[in-house]
Amino acid sequence: MKITKQKGTKDIFFDEVKIWEYIEENIRQICKENNVSEIRTPVFEATELYARGVGNDTDIVNKEMYTFIDKGGRSITLRPELTAGVVRSYIENGMNSLASPLKFWYVANMYRYEKMQKGRYREFAQFGIEIFDSDSYLADVETIKISYELMKRLGLYDKVILSLNSIGCKECRDKYIKKFKEYLMPNLDNMCETCKVRFEKNPLRILDCKEEKCNKILENAPLITDNLCPDCKQDFENVKSALDKLNIDYKVDKKIVRGLDYYNKTVYEWTSKDLDLAVGGGGRYDGLVEILGGQSCPAVGFGIGMDRLVLLLTQYNLPKDIDNDIKLFIATTNESGYIEATKLSEILKDNKIVVDINITNKSLKSQTKYADKNNMNFIAFFGEDELNNNKIRIKNMKNANQVDFDISDLDGILKFIKEGNESNA
Ligand code: HAM
Repeated sequence: MKITKQKGTKDIFFDEVKIWEYIEENIRQICKENNVSEIRTPVFEATELYARGVGNDTDIVNKEMYTFIDKGGRSITLRPELTAGVVRSYIENGMNSLASPLKFWYVANMYRYEKMQKGRYREFAQFGIEIFDSDSYLADVETIKISYELMKRLGLYDKVILSLNSIGCKECRDKYIKKFKEYLMPNLDNMCETCKVRFEKNPLRILDCKEEKCNKILENAPLITDNLCPDCKQDFENVKSALDKLNIDYKVDKKIVRGLDYYNKTVYEWTSKDLDLAVGGGGRYDGLVEILGGQSCPAVGFGIGMDRLVLLLTQYNLPKDIDNDIKLFIATTNESGYIEATKLSEILKDNKIVVDINITNKSLKSQTKYADKNNMNFIAFFGEDELNNNKIRIKNMKNANQVDFDISDLDGILKFIKEGNESNA
């Protein structure tokens, strides 16, 4: 029987893998330019990390984790997100003694047992940034700025919306939740079952409910953004004012509360304008380091769904210039051809030409077919005749122009390829 891939997973190859590489290259470049260093943490961690870190009453911990007991009897979970893992690493490696702020980035696969829909997988990847030890609102702005730079560079900035909110500090949130529950209490019987459970366990998340009957009740509910203490209010104003000065567009969405428990103060989400899809989300999480056993340390970060960036780029037919390498296939008929082709390819590769050399026993005709199907710009022939005469025949696949060169005429070969490529463009 055929073995197929697991629900919620996918194989990525050919054209799609090029889009992934394109995004990854841009991320790597942007992080380098902003002096953010890469961090790689394990795919699996102790289950306790997420129960304490992400929150016992979140959907992720309650319903979506891939948890198992390993052969040593430990409860292990495949990471559903990376913030908790990076915080664990920060604490475990004594990074609080290093010069701060510390700025990390990652691109990593994560695992959530979720219902499948467009752009939602059980194995997916996130690009994330986590910044430790700055309580300044400028650290929030910096994370938003980096995510904005990525959207701009990928050509997606006008296809997404940045929405901001502040959910305040613990003090203003506790006061607000009391007020919110008092408002909901008389209407609770008319709300959905999920909201009833959230009322007890995680009232803020009620604001995320999509049920019409709940939304009606929520229409006049007090909102956390209007109930911030003076410090949190000022902090949020500062973030917005800095974004205005940087010309980063945003809207305030007072209903954003985020689905993970660790956030405080400013939270934000990037969503697609055309597709009903969250592209990324993040915010401040000043309490998490302490919750996970470290010395209190402010922190802020975001995660952007890589699969969703790929979806958007594909949707908008971007990027336009992803595959502009010059590609040459060298057809050969025996080992000597392969060896000579390899020697020649070293110089060609130094000149940024992609070289693919025959490694089969196939005929020259079927090698030409291969070159055509693989969008090679040029094909070179190193058959026995050519080898005996120290020649190589190179053909422009687009205009069928072909020339025989002495194998030592490197300048002539390079000129033919470069000029041919320009005239093909
Ligand atoms: P999150 O909102 O759970 O935040 O995920 C961030 C992004 O990951 C989402 O906006 C979405 O693009 C993508 N994503 C989430 N689940 C899936 C899925 N099942 N399939 C495809 N893409 C998905 C976090 O995970 C936080 N750790 C972000 C963060 C970092 N906050 C502070 N630092």
